[in-house]
Order: sequence, then C-alpha cells, then structure tokens
Amino acid sequence: MSAYSVRPTPGDSSWFTRDRFGMFIHFGIYSMPARHEWVKSNEKITEEKYDKYFKYFDPDLYDPKDWARQAKAAGMKYAVLTTKHHDGFCLFDSKYTDYKATNTPCGRDLVREYVEAFRAEGLHVGLYYSLIDWHHPDFTLDVYHPRRDDENAFELNKGRDMKKYTEYLHNQVTELMTNYGKIDILWLDFSYPWMNGKGDKAWMRGKDKDDWEAEKLLAHVRELQPGILIDDRAGVEADMTTPEQVAITDWPRHKVTGERLLWETCQTFSGSWGYARDEMSWKSPEMLIRMLINTVSYGGNLLMNVGPTARGCLDSRTEAALKAFAEWMKYNSRSIYGCTMADPGFTAPPDCRFTQSQDGKRLYLHMFAYPFHTILLPGMAGKVDYAQFLNDGSEVRFSDGVMQYITDLEDEKLEGDPLVLYLPTVKPDHIVPVIELFLK
Ligand code: GLC
Repeated sequence: MSAYSVRPTPGDSSWFTRDRFGMFIHFGIYSMPARHEWVKSNEKITEEKYDKYFKYFDPDLYDPKDWARQAKAAGMKYAVLTTKHHDGFCLFDSKYTDYKATNTPCGRDLVREYVEAFRAEGLHVGLYYSLIDWHHPDFTLDVYHPRRDDENAFELNKGRDMKKYTEYLHNQVTELMTNYGKIDILWLDFSYPWMNGKGDKAWMRGKDKDDWEAEKLLAHVRELQPGILIDDRAGVEADMTTPEQVAITDWPRHKVTGERLLWETCQTFSGSWGYARDEMSWKSPEMLIRMLINTVSYGGNLLMNVGPTARGCLDSRTEAALKAFAEWMKYNSRSIYGCTMADPGFTAPPDCRFTQSQDGKRLYLHMFAYPFHTILLPGMAGKVDYAQFLNDGSEVRFSDGVMQYITDLEDEKLEGDPLVLYLPTVKPDHIVPVIELFLK
C-alpha cells in the first residue's frame, strides 16, 4: 500500500489515480482566428466581428474517433472537451441558446460525437464548461470582458442580470449531465473574486461561487451523475485541485488541514489552449515526457491539451507530440499507471525521479540524465530483489553497499548503504530510460 493518504473526495477517484494521464481538448469557433481561445477578450473583438466565425464555422474534418485513437495510442486514458468556452459558443445542441454548433454550417452536435467516440475506445469521458460567458446578454461586464474598455461600458452593463445568466448556466450543465450518458469528469472554469476593476472601473466585480450558485450546482450535478469528479474552479472545494501551466515541485495540500489533495495539472504543448497557428514555443518531446513522470512522482495526474484546427483535426505538430508520448508509453507506461509518489525515505538521486506502484511492491527509477557506468541509490542496499530496464526487460545488475570492479580489485565498501546499479554505456533508445526495481 502507498504510504500516502489523500483527503477523501465526494466523487470516485479510484480509476483516476490509476489512469494518471488524460487529454484536454480545446475546440470552438476561436480555433478559426487561431490566435488563442481568449482572442475575443484579448483583442476586444465586437459581437459583430466575432459573428464571422459563427457564420463560417465548418470543421469538415472533425473526427473524434481519430482523436480518441491518437489519445489511446499516446497512453491517455481519459479526455475532457470544452463544450462551451469563455466566448459562450456551445459545441452541443442546447435548447437554451441559438449560439451553438448546430446553427453553424457545421450543423452537428459535436459533444455527442465526442462522447460516443471516446467511450468506444474505452476512455473515460469528461466535459469542460466555462462559467464565464462573453456572449450571454446577462453576463455582467468585468475586467476580462471584451467590452470592458468601451466608452459606454457602464451603460452596456446596466440591466444585465447575473441571476438570469446563472439560471442559464445551471440549465446547460443539467443538459450536459442528462443527455450524454455517464460523464466521469465535469471541469468548470473559473472564478476570480480578486479581479475587481480599479479607478473608474471600480464597479466591475470579479466573480465567485455566489455568482454561479456553485454549491447548489455541484449538489445537483452529483445527483445526476453519482461518482463524477469535479474540479475546484467554481470557487468551492470539490474533488481535484488543478494547477495550470506551472512546474510542479510537491504534492498540493489542503490549505487548512494540510492533507494531500487529489490533483491534476493541465498543460499545453505550446502555451495556448485553443489552436494557435503562429505559436512557436512548442515543448520538446523530452520536456513532455519528463512532465508526465514528474507529475506522477508527486502523486498527480497530467491532463495534456490539444487544440484541433478549425478543420477539426489535429495539426502535424500536435500529432508529433502525441507520438512522442506513444513511443515512450508503449514500453514504459508501467511506471505511470497505478503509480504514485515513492514512499518517504526513497529519495531519488540527482536528475532522477521515482514513482512507486500503489501496492508498494515496485519502485521505478527514471533517469532524466543518463550517467556513465553506475548510479547509486543511497540507503537502499538490501532492499531490492531484482532490477531490470522497463523498456526491454533486460536485467540490470546491482550490488548492495559496495562497488564491484571488473578488475581483481576487492569490493569497496561505500558510505550511506547505497544500492549500486551497473549501467550499460549506451543509453537505451528511450527519451527517459526507466529501471524497474522489485522491492523485497
Ligand atoms: C484558464 C483559461 C482557459 C483555459 C483553462 C484551462 O482558466 O482561462 O482559457 O481553458 O485555463 O485550464
């Protein structure tokens, strides 16, 4: 058994902590400008201009079966799709709005096709729903709203009624939780109570749980979808906490009780979530694989994002990045699935990360840098029964507490009771080689 207990969650996290790796999918009419999913806010685009995207949205290559196959090949076990993002556009056939895919040239309920395709590949299915909505006429202006700097912003805001918007939000989430079968994750995004306007914008308020009536919303969702996992961005504690686009250096804890939390970090390939044609900051395969390992080494999940193009398919850069995962995961996934942070006392050497199977029996040593000849695991002499490379199952010889020499020199006793692993000179042909240690 793993040495770590996690603050209990209302939802069923058993599959989630086993599966560890999922696909985030940001897709919408913002994929057309291809300049970040926040383009409407960033460039303060008017409704009239933004309507062009609605008018011409036609993802003729939309094929979630293909996404699901690629996700599965990459070793991903679940997915989360943006059913509505901050621009308010809905990929699903909601009866509460006309602003939806079925009213564009696309003419299809893209959420339905997605849930069916991913389920058919045996993947768990999640839905993202934006709490923010820059299209709805009752959503009040705030510091993120595309109309925030309009001269008549104050007038524009008059008469907007968040209560009406919140009713809309609840109705739509109910549709998502009712019309698409079993949903494993609901990803609500996001609250920002600290983002109030300043100076002549002081009337602009940030938004928080009360604006969404979050407690009521979550209770209702759990009634409709028992066991569902919900993220913590509606402003109330839910199931998992979700650090975004940051380097993880420890297991996130509850602010008051200090308990370890169920957590999932979401990351992008290139910085933007929605398709961004001109973005050049794509992460290298090495950085991506390390990110996955590092996440699990602190007991968390990685939700890796793809931003399909306006045609509805993955671009070549995305496919290449997924392939890097596929190649590594095909041989090394045993150090990811069902694994967590290594027991206290197992300290990884420099440039390495440990993960450990949740039954405690196997320890996985990931080498970010590949050393010459030997690697020492302090304090681990006598604790390991057998060792092998994970990628090919080839034995890795070791000695306990002593360095052995190929010459006739006597064994040399080493400080700190290390396990000494003897490595081949040539690094196995895997971005990050893994040694599987069977513990006694
Ligand atoms: C942020 C962004 C949003 C993105 C999300 C993913 O909240 O506002 O664009 O969907 O992060 O975690």
